[in-house]
Amino acid sequence: MNAWLNRFPLSVPESLRTPEEAARLELAHALPDCSVTLESVPAMGDGFCLFREKSGYRIAGGPAGLLYGAWRLIFSLTACEELPDRLESAPRYALRMINCWDNPDGTVERGYSGSSLFFRGGKLDYNPERIRVIARLMASVGLNVLCINNVNVHFPGQLLLEDDLPDLARLAEIIRPFGIRLMVSVDYSQPMRHGIPTADPLDTRVQAWWAETASRVWRAVPDLAGFLVKADSEGRPGPFTYGRNHAEGANMLAEAVRPFGGVIVWRCFVYNCRQDWRDTKTDRPKAAYDHYAPLDGQFASNVILQVKHGPFDFQVREPLSPLLLAMPKTHLALELQLAQEYTGHQIDLYTMMPMWQEIFEELPDSAIMSVAAVSNWGDDANYTGHPLAAANFFGYGLLCWDPHTDPRRSTELWARLTYGFPAEQEKKLADCLLSSRRTYEKYTAPLGIGWMVTPHDHYGPNPSGYEYDLWGTYHKASRDAVGIDRTEKGTGYLCQYPEEIRKKYEDPASCPDLYLLFYHRLPYSFRMKDGRTLVQRIYDDHFEGYAETEAMRETLRSLPFPEEDRAVILERMDRQVHNAREWCDIINTFFHRLSGIPDGQGRTIYE
Ligand code: GCU
Repeated sequence: MNAWLNRFPLSVPESLRTPEEAARLELAHALPDCSVTLESVPAMGDGFCLFREKSGYRIAGGPAGLLYGAWRLIFSLTACEELPDRLESAPRYALRMINCWDNPDGTVERGYSGSSLFFRGGKLDYNPERIRVIARLMASVGLNVLCINNVNVHFPGQLLLEDDLPDLARLAEIIRPFGIRLMVSVDYSQPMRHGIPTADPLDTRVQAWWAETASRVWRAVPDLAGFLVKADSEGRPGPFTYGRNHAEGANMLAEAVRPFGGVIVWRCFVYNCRQDWRDTKTDRPKAAYDHYAPLDGQFASNVILQVKHGPFDFQVREPLSPLLLAMPKTHLALELQLAQEYTGHQIDLYTMMPMWQEIFEELPDSAIMSVAAVSNWGDDANYTGHPLAAANFFGYGLLCWDPHTDPRRSTELWARLTYGFPAEQEKKLADCLLSSRRTYEKYTAPLGIGWMVTPHDHYGPNPSGYEYDLWGTYHKASRDAVGIDRTEKGTGYLCQYPEEIRKKYEDPASCPDLYLLFYHRLPYSFRMKDGRTLVQRIYDDHFEGYAETEAMRETLRSLPFPEEDRAVILERMDRQVHNAREWCDIINTFFHRLSGIPDGQGRTIYE
């Protein structure tokens, strides 16, 4: 099973060298009766122009642009989409990245689709055929950078820049004809493996080591995109150890990779992960802004700060990270997570495009230049564990090309390419997918509060699992109230935003419901805009979420999926219904026990 490329199975010859050759091959194979001329216009880069002519089609484009144009044509003709006489298109973002969190031992951090496609037994070890499938999947939706290893680089992950470099070069060769460049996560303290007693970015021995390493690495992989760095985050080494800030830390690496056109993608997931729950001064969502906003303008031009979309960590609902609005002089990348860590482990359906649409509605066009997403692949036969999770991967690619892509368009196009159902069934499937995020949100932690998950594993309910822990993720539910006041009177988090955003959220009476408990601490008797009390809204959402999950199962049962997908989808759907029931009952009981307020509709809430 090759996700949405099932319709176009293709054994790619090893002799394939360039994206232009790949474009010819894909076209000849997918549209054998269609005459398509390719016209190479190097200056167009990743962009293309597609012309409908009397006798067929012509695609003008840069090197990878030809391949993207070819896929656009293949998709449109296969999905019977109208094409204009002239369609000009170019990606909105320069780097459209996939970050795999794969470990050398073959495990995948937060992976829900089997083992790694790249590593086994401590080193690179892969099936080239499957790598080509992944590369085709990426190219078909316009993605162009692949980081293959976990941001948490533990031994022997460092060997990618050392003994395993020749294998890395071979992997780069496999994906190059698809217009994809490799990236590697690096260990900030790697020079210390080589007899240098420090990783201080201002130490000349450290600088020389990275410069020499970069030149060796780029000699082996001349088109390497760059290094991805998780520093001073969740126990990883970084410049703080030496009293240096992150501009000093990142710029040192940037200097080393600059001669080769490389970039340093520097993650901003920095916070105190050893917080005392008794400490009410520290508010974790403030951390990224506090660390990085003051450094705006100090980063080298080839440093990209990669910022998670929300201030916490990929919860079901979070506001836009204020850091994304605070660094106009810095190249920023938005980080999304395809892997469903907090969103159902690819057991529960959770289609992300509606959530991303909300993010891009709040994000000014000029705020970011690149996008990255943590991958949801593994070596499962269907690559994404849940066959329907492939829609997220597909939608992500389209979104990186055009952030204003309508979620319905990408979801329906994916469904049509993957299953080719008749229109009515396609719509049922798309409706199901597009509503799945709200459904999941309803039966899990309420109204933006997040974190009521089983600790570490992050699947299933545990309302107090993180309450007395050291990760800074508290809801402080008491007998009378729940949530944290993040306004000016509270932790001041809201003050990190520009005024118009502050205004939208600061008053609980006008704050959008779904963010209420992210920003405010409120009594259970608080009146929502529709007149219900807060606790009644929590009960209602949970009953609804569970009921919607059961209805979703009925819909999916009625659709004519191919047998191998059907079995997996229905088996997962059963597990989702069970999960939704657990969430519904546990969360409702939790709030009922605390508040003592009965359900206004007299439904069963367990004691
Ligand atoms: C989350 C996740 C970790 C991951 C981290 C990161 O905290 O649970 O597994 O390493 O994010 O983004 O670096």
